[in-house]
Amino acid sequence: MKIPEINFPNNDKNFIHDPYPYLSDLREASPLHIDTNSNLTLIPRFDDVKHVQTSKLFSSSDPKDVMMSDKEGSDKDNYEYFWRTEEFSLLNLEGQLHGDLRGLVAKAFLNRQVQELRPFMEKKSKELLNTLNKDRFDLLKDYAQPYSISVIGELLGVPEDQYDNFLYWSNCIVKMYDLNVSSDDALEAEQAAKEFYYYISNLIDEKKLQPKNDMISRLSQVTENNQKLTKDQIICTVILLLNAGHEATVNTIGNSIVALNRNNIKTKNLNQKFDVKDIIEELIRWDSPLQFFQRWVLEDTELAGYKLEKNSKIAILLGSANRDRKVYNSPEKINFERKNLNHTSFGGGVHFCLGAHLARLELEVSFGNLFQHEIDLLDDPERTGAFGIRGFKKILVRI
Ligand code: HEM
Repeated sequence: MKIPEINFPNNDKNFIHDPYPYLSDLREASPLHIDTNSNLTLIPRFDDVKHVQTSKLFSSSDPKDVMMSDKEGSDKDNYEYFWRTEEFSLLNLEGQLHGDLRGLVAKAFLNRQVQELRPFMEKKSKELLNTLNKDRFDLLKDYAQPYSISVIGELLGVPEDQYDNFLYWSNCIVKMYDLNVSSDDALEAEQAAKEFYYYISNLIDEKKLQPKNDMISRLSQVTENNQKLTKDQIICTVILLLNAGHEATVNTIGNSIVALNRNNIKTKNLNQKFDVKDIIEELIRWDSPLQFFQRWVLEDTELAGYKLEKNSKIAILLGSANRDRKVYNSPEKINFERKNLNHTSFGGGVHFCLGAHLARLELEVSFGNLFQHEIDLLDDPERTGAFGIRGFKKILVRI
């Protein structure tokens, strides 16, 4: 059977505003679709997404023979520093190296160490909410971004006067993860990656001389079976933690408050009516902050009755999977009493989000404080325009 071809509307404003009706049609029409723009095979249904996340036939690593011959290879020459910061990113690795690296990073990122950050999170969240202009502020710029960057900064042990640089570098780099990247954005990402690379490299040298109780110091010291992380591996990990951790958490806060408003759900004391943990999971399911991830097909195989060729590329659509009516009753409704809160937004299999414990705690503390207020939107916020990382440009509110 031939996989149906589509023109995926990821640059269409209406689609970005609300992609879910289109994605619902996609799931109904066929389990697989080829996007003729990106040449990716799109996987929109829940069971197939879960299968890809957990099967060894699909890889996050670029198989060598493909890498040298296609466009990705030449990108690696043009965007040297971007690729240097990606070289040991857990997101791009597989097999033994992924397992070894993930094991070492996880040892420096224990749940106990994350829980120790709770008082810091409470203080920061309250401090921000107490000092902003309650009649009119940008929920992202004035609250979610400084909150999230401070938490990750505190975890890693980076100086506060560098947070603005981190935000800028991180914003530039994550644009490279979308479906179509303009050459201007790619050049900006390359410059940001270079500055970021050297900054973190110097910071690691400082921490080696004077270790502290922070994650960069722990990453430099941690050992397993006589293995240690190399300097480049630590640099890639720190940059991944800042990029992956920051954007997704900020957008979850923003997407959630807009979702509650647009669905006429009052924010004040919401966490007294429902368990805050259920609120978090349902809102992340309803509007996933990360909408897709790509995989390479390692061997000729079949998925949902269709043939997939070795070395072709597929994209699993997480946000679509979370709205699959075969898995969720009335998936388009926000329901905090849902029995099934098992969603795909934190991934699955060996790449399951390594920072889910931190993200969940950050959101729990944040919602705990935000839900002490009624939060009203002052206008209709506009989406950033990106499909992969789903968020808003700004969200003007009053509390
Ligand atoms: C609501 C917030 C977050 C969401 C929705 C999210 C989602 C995800 C998803 C879907 C993946 C899997 C990617 C794949 O399958 O290729 C992932 C991986 C990862 N996440 Fe998160 N994430 C969040 C927050 C964080 C935070 C706060 C951190 C750390 C500071 C973090 C660190 C990571 C890392 C290191 C990986 C790579 C794991 C691996 O490939 O082995 N994430 N995340």
